[in-house]
Amino acid sequence: MSKTTVSAPANIAFIKYWGASDLDRAIPMNPSISMSLEHCVSKCTVEVLSHEGEDEVWLAEPDGGFGTPSPAFAQRVRDHLGRIRRWAGREEAVRVATRNSFPTAGGLASSASGFAALTLAAAGAYGKGGAPPHELSLLARRSGSGSAARSVFGGYVEWPRPKAGSGEEDSYAAPIAKAEHWDLHDVIAVVEIGPKTVSSLEGHRRAPTSPYYTKRQELLPGRLDIVRRAIKERDLAALGPVLEEEAVDLHLIAMSSHPPVWYWSPGTIAVLRAVRELRQEGLAAWTTMDAGANVHVICDAESADDVADRLESLPAVGFVIQDGVGGGPETETTHLF
Ligand code: PMV
Repeated sequence: MSKTTVSAPANIAFIKYWGASDLDRAIPMNPSISMSLEHCVSKCTVEVLSHEGEDEVWLAEPDGGFGTPSPAFAQRVRDHLGRIRRWAGREEAVRVATRNSFPTAGGLASSASGFAALTLAAAGAYGKGGAPPHELSLLARRSGSGSAARSVFGGYVEWPRPKAGSGEEDSYAAPIAKAEHWDLHDVIAVVEIGPKTVSSLEGHRRAPTSPYYTKRQELLPGRLDIVRRAIKERDLAALGPVLEEEAVDLHLIAMSSHPPVWYWSPGTIAVLRAVRELRQEGLAAWTTMDAGANVHVICDAESADDVADRLESLPAVGFVIQDGVGGGPETETTHLF
């Protein structure tokens, strides 16, 4: 029986995907740009069984054991496996297990890396691992966890919205620069662990009810230009302020949605303040957050240890993960089962 294991990275969005024209298929209202991470990854093993029927879905625990995911999550996985089977022209059920190298569902993009790894491992197990990368990105996007489209690649990645008048087949991600192009670091201050109270799917659903939603859409073309240029020219001083504007706007929209969504915790504010102080002391470090309370601090390689030391000294910070730009998904020779 054919078994494939793939590790796919989490990613941190510089320009956020927030709001969709079709949530089930994750057709985004706006383009987004992210950096794929090196150490925060999901590893997924898919084994094709010799029969049709229900897929077996497992979550691998850190101690090496296996647990069952919530019924709702298992269903999302099975729905996506059905989609991959139709695409691959196959019918057999699979056994699948996933392990994250980082805390799950704390705004650390476990669904992006998880669905990217699932897509790539299932494609491989069904004999379609050599499919064009854009097809795999499209397939990962259709999981409903749209940012998974970006986690199919390493380095710096852009995911456009569909062109006017087209369907949704052209809304897949593509790399805009390789990891080696710019050694950016991401020092993650974990202030809250455990599942967030409102999923990002629900956040997307509510986003257009915020009065600030349309305003952000107007500002995005300018921000996208700055971020693309900053990446090309390795210009952190240009990138940093846009990172912070984007993160604040995402949370501003969330907090002013109907009903409102609050992802921040007191620890979030403590970290934001500490990073402003670090900048006053001369360090180039800038914050961003996805749909959660934890804060990603983007900085250059030389500043990463100093940033981590400062964040670790804050009582509100549980622990710090030192990560940085990574090369993208890898096929593994060691399987989870
Ligand atoms: O891919 P989703 O549905 O989990 O949404 C991701 C939303 C953000 O992480 C907040 C932004 C992004 O672009 O990753």
